[in-house]
Amino acid sequence: MEHRLKIAIIIVLLILAVGMNLPQITGTGIAQGPVSSAQSDKSFAPPPEWRPTAVPAGRRMLGNATCGECHTQVKTQPQTTMGKALELASESRILSANPDLNFRSGRFIYNIRRDGDRSIYTVSDGRESISVPILYAFGLGKAGQTYVFEREGRYYESRVSFYDQIGGLDYTIGAPRIPAASLAEAVGRAMDSADLKDCFGCHATAAVAEGRLQLDKMTPGISCEGCHGPGDQHVALMKSPSKSDRRGSSSLILNPGRFDTEGQTQFCGSCHRTWAQVELMRVRGVDGVRFQPYRIFSSKCYDFDDRRIACSTCHNPHEEVRPDPAFYDAKCLACHRRSDNPATTGPRPCRASPRSNCAGCHMPKYEIPGSHFQFTDHQIRVVRPGDLNPEQSR
Ligand code: HEC
Ligand code: HEC
Ligand code: HEC
Ligand code: HEC
Ligand code: HEC
Ligand code: HEC
Ligand code: HEC
Repeated sequence: MEHRLKIAIIIVLLILAVGMNLPQITGTGIAQGPVSSAQSDKSFAPPPEWRPTAVPAGRRMLGNATCGECHTQVKTQPQTTMGKALELASESRILSANPDLNFRSGRFIYNIRRDGDRSIYTVSDGRESISVPILYAFGLGKAGQTYVFEREGRYYESRVSFYDQIGGLDYTIGAPRIPAASLAEAVGRAMDSADLKDCFGCHATAAVAEGRLQLDKMTPGISCEGCHGPGDQHVALMKSPSKSDRRGSSSLILNPGRFDTEGQTQFCGSCHRTWAQVELMRVRGVDGVRFQPYRIFSSKCYDFDDRRIACSTCHNPHEEVRPDPAFYDAKCLACHRRSDNPATTGPRPCRASPRSNCAGCHMPKYEIPGSHFQFTDHQIRVVRPGDLNPEQSR
């Protein structure tokens, strides 16, 4: 599809999304809607704050063990970064492997100490100190891991996070990188209820039901049903003796593999963030690189209906991301002509004519300041020397 046309369509969708009555969407119908209509409606376009992990009214999630009775994906998916996007502090591998973490910010001293299956977060200004047990660990630390705890009846996000690259603590992304004004402020940021629903809605399964937070019923991380939706009806159907009679009809479970390319970008983008969400968030410059659906949308390679550029063509969401460049070469060459074989068809071959590591040159990695992590720019393009701000190429 013509590039400018794509942008125009998205702007219209954006205006529609903003114009819609958002509270209605967090209510009962939305998560259910796509589940039943998805199989026929390939061009899926959820409103900006839709999350597949929310439980729609009247539906029930059964858990990974049930899916594992019939599907092999349970052998790998629960161990992936997405499967572990959230851990209880008691089960956090990073906190157990790092039993004594320290950080200093001006007069404030931070310490996270393991004590049995608990981790105690302490912030001290030299005279007074605040100590709280950590409840939840967000993120697997590849980029960073941020802690959530409860204090005086409110939930807080820790002002410091763990980063794998430095093997220790630094300021949380988004937190001011300067010493706080007071001890209470140094501890972290108080979260409001919208914040909590957002964080847990993207990092856990079934944390939100009918617009309400239900932390006692959630499953940490993205489980099978976090993407595929509640499995109650599907499992009942698959276990019913008469299931052989219903050949050809729906299997009553959402399969994002059936969406067209743009539908899938929107689906994954409901957490990884779409073009529309990033525009609403007003993110600019290098910070946008972490939002892959937004970036890939701006690439000349991207096409609404061509499956060869869909997220799941390069990523099997049931397995860990593939670090070997050769794996992605075949994905590029599925469309592009090979410079060493003029007989192949498709868009232009590489003028620089290398045969391998296409992504290494055309999907460069950028470090977002403070993240201690290099994100892969999904706006596939010719990268000019000195191109340090990916937005310049727009
Ligand atoms: C009793 C066995 C059984 C259980 C338990 C089960 N499934 Fe399935 N599932 C199947 C079978 C059989 C198919 C193939 C159905 C078909 O081709 O219509 C299937 C198909 C699927 C599909 C593809 C659907 C499509 O339309 O392409 C998905 C996704 C899926 N299952 C997810 C799950 C999830 C998630 C769970 C756990 C909540 C689960 N299944 C539990 C038997 C099961
Ligand atoms: C319910 C929210 C949600 C949905 C839907 C979702 N993701 Fe994720 N994904 C996450 C979170 C959260 C992380 C980061 C976990 C972390 O850093 O600990 C992540 C991480 C990843 C990673 C990085 C894994 C690694 O090894 O670093 C890939 C790749 C990925 N997702 C691909 C996808 C694709 C493809 C889809 C669509 C099929 C998708 N995601 C849908 C929430 C989601
Ligand atoms: C719209 C969905 C969404 C929301 C809301 C969200 N996250 Fe994430 N989070 C993600 C995804 C997707 C990733 C994977 C990293 C990436 O590629 O951006 C991630 C990554 C992370 C990481 C790993 C470090 C990093 O920055 O990549 C941490 C820590 C984290 N999130 C914490 C939080 C906390 C705490 C909140 C609430 C204040 C929150 N997230 C809200 C989707 C979300
Ligand atoms: C991050 C989202 C995500 C999670 C979590 C997830 N899936 Fe999937 N699943 C997908 C996508 C996307 C496809 C379509 C893949 C494709 O078409 O290449 C899919 C396809 C499937 C299918 C259809 C058969 C196939 O291979 O095409 C089954 C069955 C399935 N998933 C089961 C599971 C089970 C069981 C779990 C939990 C262990 C799980 N999925 C977790 C996104 C997810
Ligand atoms: C043409 C192939 C291709 C497509 C299509 C693609 N990716 Fe990637 N993706 C990559 C490569 C290459 C990496 C880097 C792998 C590595 O070096 O570890 C990556 C890495 C990631 C990561 C890890 C964090 C990072 O920035 O390095 C996430 C998350 C991710 N992709 C999400 C997505 C989502 C969501 C989509 C769909 C909008 C998508 N990708 C489409 C090739 C692709
Ligand atoms: C769905 C098919 C498809 C896939 C997959 C694909 N491309 Fe492209 N790519 C295109 C099309 C179409 C164009 C625009 C026409 C042209 O430049 O010849 C393009 C353009 C490009 C350009 C020139 C962009 C510019 O700004 O001038 C580069 C570089 C490129 N692709 C590299 C890659 C790499 C590297 C991969 C794999 C990571 C890849 N492509 C995957 C279809 C694809
Ligand atoms: C060593 C870095 C490097 C690697 C590896 C690489 N390219 Fe390129 N590619 C370039 C540069 C530099 C250009 C710009 C050349 C120019 O404008 O003269 C380019 C241009 C392109 C173009 C645009 C062609 C044009 O005529 O404007 C495409 C498409 C492309 N590459 C695809 C690929 C594919 C597919 C692969 C993997 C088989 C690949 N590249 C591997 C550096 C690389």
